[in-house]
Amino acid sequence: MGEGVNSPLIVDSDPEFLVALKMDPSFKKHQPVVVRSQTEAITALKGGGEFSGIFINPKLAAPHGIPLIQESILHQPIVPIFLLEGFTKTELTPEELKKLTVRGILKKPFGLSAIMQAILETQATFDAKTALQIAARNGDKVGQESHSSENDFVPILAKHFLAGTSSFFDIYVKIPPGRFLMILHAGDLFQKERIESYLSKGVTHLYLKKEAQESYLNYCQDLTARILGNNEVSTEIKVGQVSNLGNETAQFMRLSGLSESTVTRAQGFVTSVRDLSKHMDLDSNKNFSAFMNDLVSLEHATATTMIAGILGKFLGMSAEKSVQIVGMAGFFHDVGLQNMPEKFKLEDEKLLNDEEKKLYRSHPIVGAQIFMGVKGIDPAVIQAIEQHHERRTADGFPARLGAGAINRVAEIVGISELYVEAIKRHSTDKTYDPFKRMELGFNSFASPISDAFRRIFFPKK
Ligand SMILES: [Fe+2]
Ligand SMILES: [Fe+2]
Repeated sequence: MGEGVNSPLIVDSDPEFLVALKMDPSFKKHQPVVVRSQTEAITALKGGGEFSGIFINPKLAAPHGIPLIQESILHQPIVPIFLLEGFTKTELTPEELKKLTVRGILKKPFGLSAIMQAILETQATFDAKTALQIAARNGDKVGQESHSSENDFVPILAKHFLAGTSSFFDIYVKIPPGRFLMILHAGDLFQKERIESYLSKGVTHLYLKKEAQESYLNYCQDLTARILGNNEVSTEIKVGQVSNLGNETAQFMRLSGLSESTVTRAQGFVTSVRDLSKHMDLDSNKNFSAFMNDLVSLEHATATTMIAGILGKFLGMSAEKSVQIVGMAGFFHDVGLQNMPEKFKLEDEKLLNDEEKKLYRSHPIVGAQIFMGVKGIDPAVIQAIEQHHERRTADGFPARLGAGAINRVAEIVGISELYVEAIKRHSTDKTYDPFKRMELGFNSFASPISDAFRRIFFPKK
């Protein structure tokens, strides 16, 4: 068993699935115990060591896998149980599965990292009781439309939610223009297919009730820490999870304003960006392409923080304090735009008239001022917020500072957000070349920064 983590037990005789598992690059690390029959499974369950999770093909123990589920509970009562599903679906209802303490169903094909992720989610230490209590106060019913208004809901990204096995939250879909239908009740078994069918119809966001938001954020933080701390989970899943946490944190900031609690949340996200960058191989493009695809769906603050975090690390800013400064500056750089007109948030001066442009150009100062009154913020963060649009070519704003006068963190944030916007623009206009755009802007930044940028983010030849 690897690295102090118990092995999962896999009970299945499906040759195709088992071969694929064996070929999985993380097989050696996981060392799952694979058995092919009910008898072998019982021997393994009785045999001393505790498993991290038990994964059963229900076909091997008629009816519906129940005898094996019961044996698992008998010998390893606290280990989470999952069913493996191939072509045929289980005939057990969600209620029956819940009674049998089945934690989820994994649909083939999937790899070992899906198994690890399923296990990690069951180990959540966040305050699930509070989440379920909040949900218990909700009178809405699955399959029915909610009477609450649009303002009572917050969106979450559907594709990241899909990773879940059972939900601690009531989940809704939006039916345009502004109606909400509950599709999953907190505490119920996660019905992956149901949500997949919405995804296939083009649904990108699911919705939570606003009162559940903070609890959901706790859940995301907890899950992110677990996923990042586990060597067997793929970088792709890690990137997705950190992105999701960033978006939820940005959402939280938007809805609850700036407070010490928002700052603490942001620090949590920044720490997860640092942990993520430790796993990223900056010299290989492999994990990076997944990351870039993700970028388009991210909030501006989230994406900027992630790019700035990676760039900062590459530039040797890896001490705890400097990581926090770069990350916090990335996350809060546009806080001054928060109370300005919505279209300012696109940060495109072409959309603004002279008057608007003047107001827009004050957002770095407004942002810095907001932070002067917030406890626990490093002055370097405030300065970076104030200077993130300054350029060493002295054509930035608000102060037209030139080379030598600009805080390095501000430059890192500045180049990062430029890239984020270029990638986003490329996603809607394929003729727009983000790398050409960056190339044109490189002389606006200190050469160590633009050199590092080129080395990390430009396609490798
Ligand atoms: Fe920005
Ligand atoms: Fe800005």
